[in-house]
Amino acid sequence: MNEDEGPLIEDRTVGSTLQVTEACPVLAGRFFVFEGIDGSGKSTVSRLFADRLRSTGREVELTAEPTSTWLGDQVRRGNREAKSDFTETFLYIADRAEHTAQISKWTSEGRIVVCDRYVGSTLAYQGVTLRPHLGPGTLEWLKRVNEPVIIRPDATFLLRIDPSKAMARLEDRKGREKFEKVNFLKKVAALYDRLAEEDPSYIVVDAERPLDDVLGTVWSMVNKE
Ligand code: TYD
Repeated sequence: MNEDEGPLIEDRTVGSTLQVTEACPVLAGRFFVFEGIDGSGKSTVSRLFADRLRSTGREVELTAEPTSTWLGDQVRRGNREAKSDFTETFLYIADRAEHTAQISKWTSEGRIVVCDRYVGSTLAYQGVTLRPHLGPGTLEWLKRVNEPVIIRPDATFLLRIDPSKAMARLEDRKGREKFEKVNFLKKVAALYDRLAEEDPSYIVVDAERPLDDVLGTVWSMVNKE
């Protein structure tokens, strides 16, 4: 990022009259990812973050993995029907390969891309599910397989929450997925923490606070860069 450009986001109040022609271009083409365990609130926060960016007149693509394409459908089917842990892993990665091509196109057109889950989800979740098969080298293996089909996010916001609290948030939800089990999520959360320690593009956000605070933190981090 160019440090001479000043704040990346002008401090405009959401809902105020917008002067779109003045829209600051410095965030153009940036790629922001939200990661976290189920129940961390990342879908809501990513949507509100995208809305807030739009309210400053910017062109924003809000997207998610698994995608809403035919590949995402196969991922969801794989979650229900696959017998091998590797099947769903390769489905997530296939979905990502196509998604990355789409994201690259959007960023090259100057759009800001806000993505709910990306490669970090595979590293953290499949890092847990494949560990019994691949042992201590699991994370490295997953990184290598993902490498050719990803682009590097400008920032990955990790919404951090205690897995038991996240589970409590999900209690009301219908059709809980097999992943939404607290012991499993504890392992996933630990892997996310490790990823955040190792990768400087991760920004850890305390997601146990009220939604407005979480969003405000994310906004100020981008503003500050
Ligand atoms: P998500 O759509 O975030 O769940 P929901 O909309 O129900 O909140 O993700 C669905 C599940 O897929 C989630 O438990 C995490 C899992 N997942 C992986 O295991 N690996 C991946 O690479 C991705 C993208 C998701």
